[in-house]
Amino acid sequence: MLERAGLRVEPRAPAATRRSDAWAATFAWRERPGQPDVLRWLAFLAVLSIIGLIGSGAWVRLSGSGLGCPTWPDCTRASVVAPATYHALVEFVNRCIITTVGVVVALSVVASLLRRPFRRDLVLLSGGLVAGYVGEAVLGGITVLMKLAPTLVAAHLVLAMLLLADAVVLHWRAGSRERSSQVAVHRGVTLLADLMLLAALIVVAAGTVVAGTGPHSGSPGTPRFHFDLRSTAEFHALVGMFLFGLVVAAFFLLFVLRAPRAAWRRYSTAVGLLGLQGALGYATWFSHIEVDVTEAHVFVAGLLVVALVRFRLGFSSARPPATSVVRSVVFVGVGGGPQHQEPGQ
Ligand code: HEM
Repeated sequence: MLERAGLRVEPRAPAATRRSDAWAATFAWRERPGQPDVLRWLAFLAVLSIIGLIGSGAWVRLSGSGLGCPTWPDCTRASVVAPATYHALVEFVNRCIITTVGVVVALSVVASLLRRPFRRDLVLLSGGLVAGYVGEAVLGGITVLMKLAPTLVAAHLVLAMLLLADAVVLHWRAGSRERSSQVAVHRGVTLLADLMLLAALIVVAAGTVVAGTGPHSGSPGTPRFHFDLRSTAEFHALVGMFLFGLVVAAFFLLFVLRAPRAAWRRYSTAVGLLGLQGALGYATWFSHIEVDVTEAHVFVAGLLVVALVRFRLGFSSARPPATSVVRSVVFVGVGGGPQHQEPGQ
């Protein structure tokens, strides 16, 4: 009626939205092009700290410092800080990195909630980081209670890799203006990149079985898998070679589709790290699982996961076409769709 009388009636926002808007007006910030993006920086820190955590966790196991701090959260009954003994210090550094990851992850979820325009995908990804972190903490506690049972140690590392992948996606998407990822290339390319990720996950999982069978249990007298070490290492290396085969296939696909430079750059990083990882894997085996070489092998596994996830993300890019893989006509032509911008940007 009012409208018929020429008066425009604005729909009233639900009470919850009004409350959250008032709250946001006080605390939220608006990400603007050209200004530092808080969430993106936090996601970057999350990536770095989780890689550090994977490296320090491996060092705890390889140096036999698994029970270096016998209590939690204090290191000893007397102090939260470790005494100046090797195993206690290794475990203490690992705990410091765990705390850093926790702080960064908690800040990420707050930043994604306060960010305007609100992005559900970013909240879900940072929420995933928190969920994964809590999962890691629970799993870590049970692992100590179960005297470093190899299945739990293995699950701990696999979950850390998933957490890392989540942080990489969050970092990528926080830098884009898109809410949803739209496949901007030929389906075959994304399928291959997905297969590479799956193969990497299987190699990592198989690697944890080798580690659970091998000599470095994390602390003297802890249980081991009763597999044949050579067979587990052979299976692990075989899946690694399958991954290498997929990477070679990707080379031909990128070549035929005349992929743009950005795709080749991410591809080269992944290939370089995979080559290094393969070499380190054989060095680990032929050095009879020497601890320094094995540490490098686990650390590079984290870097490789980052490179493979970024390679995949390049094909569902929400970035401006001029700098992304959607540049080539062939690439956009099949399966591409119009990219939408979120309101307010
Ligand atoms: C190609 C990609 C590869 C990836 C991503 C990878 C990754 C991993 C990971 C994540 C672990 C588990 C470490 C832990 O649980 O702390 C591991 C262990 C291991 N990997 Fe690999 N690996 C690869 C290739 C190879 C190759 C080609 C070999 C050669 C045989 C190899 C030999 C080993 C050995 C012997 C261990 C056990 C180390 C231990 O007992 O601590 N890896 N690998």
